[in-house]
Amino acid sequence: MSKKRIGISTIAIHGGDGAHHAGDPVAPALVQSVNFVQEIGTDAGLLYTRYGNTPNLERVQKRLAMLEGAEAALVLASGMGATACAMLALLRPGDHLLASNSIYGGTFRLLTEEFTRHGIDVTLVDPFEPRVWRKRMRKETRALFVETPVNPTCRVVDLKPISYLTKEVGLALVVDSTFASPVNLRPLEHGADVVIHSGTKYLNGHHDAMCGVVAGTEPFIAEVLQKMVVWGQAPDPFAAWLLERGLKTLEVRVQRQNENALRIAHWCAERKDIKKVHYPGLAEHPDHSVAKAMLDGYGGMLAIEVAGGAKGAERFLRRLKLIRHAASLGGVDSLVSEPRFSSHARLSSDERSALGIPDGFLRLSIGIESADDLIADIEQALK
Ligand SMILES: Cc1ncc(COP(=O)(O)O)c(C=O)c1O
Repeated sequence: MSKKRIGISTIAIHGGDGAHHAGDPVAPALVQSVNFVQEIGTDAGLLYTRYGNTPNLERVQKRLAMLEGAEAALVLASGMGATACAMLALLRPGDHLLASNSIYGGTFRLLTEEFTRHGIDVTLVDPFEPRVWRKRMRKETRALFVETPVNPTCRVVDLKPISYLTKEVGLALVVDSTFASPVNLRPLEHGADVVIHSGTKYLNGHHDAMCGVVAGTEPFIAEVLQKMVVWGQAPDPFAAWLLERGLKTLEVRVQRQNENALRIAHWCAERKDIKKVHYPGLAEHPDHSVAKAMLDGYGGMLAIEVAGGAKGAERFLRRLKLIRHAASLGGVDSLVSEPRFSSHARLSSDERSALGIPDGFLRLSIGIESADDLIADIEQALK
């Protein structure tokens, strides 16, 4: 009989717990200390918050590794810190990185402005062009980087053909899986080597902690840890505590967000005053079949283009009452953001359009409120 996989919520609540003892607190203690008394005559067991080895971090890291099905995981100060340290652990000057051009704007800047300045050559490719990865590979190529589902277009990059290639040629496949969370996608099951999250989003889920996650093999995570320590990217213990608290409800939150977003996407698709709906759960979405095969849920992120372009979008945003205009995503409160004034503000209008983000494009992060109330809010804002 095959061993049953432990449920996601069970891992998220209990993963890595030891034996129970009378008097143990059920809610974990927050150890908000940077310094810890050190044993004399040795550096063994030296604890310091920047070293990422303090109690709240170690607990939540174990749980995240289990959620991703990874040997180890590391929590860092932000999603950007996670991506930066993971890539610094993989790449050296002279190396070449092949990256998807459909990625979060901050990651785009990190790869194209910062890494190139440090002697790492980066080629951006359209991940939806068949065989593009193989065509653009060089002998210096060390890793492939993709984000799936993509922020903000909600396109879904299929990991299967990419991971066949990276396995065949022995390259590392790094996947930013922030939009999916481990509830909807566990990239290692699809051949990825490294998973990255902005933990600020679904993992925390409450818009109150900033953190990032890298998951992978033990030796690789040890390398990322070295980068985190010297580049100063460790999180504060309270962020780790909030992350652990948020994780406990991850599965129920994400499932509700999946349900709400699917309902809202169907409703939006019927409206004449919404020109386009981008949601992988809709049959007409270009990646619907990939999403159906690869994801366990279509996600809480969707995008719409309302009639009237940029002006129409601004009018819509000003009329929303429940859904707030804010740049982040993935939490229990529904938010809406306009990428041209947030994540993709540094690109020109033409560059954004080429990536499928025309002016007036609105990204909605659906929360766990009543779907009826969210629909009513959207409906009154469209009037
Ligand atoms: C897909 C994705 N990756 C990474 C990041 C960066 O995360 P953070 O803001 O936690 O640094 C974001 C932030 O929006 C994101 O959407």
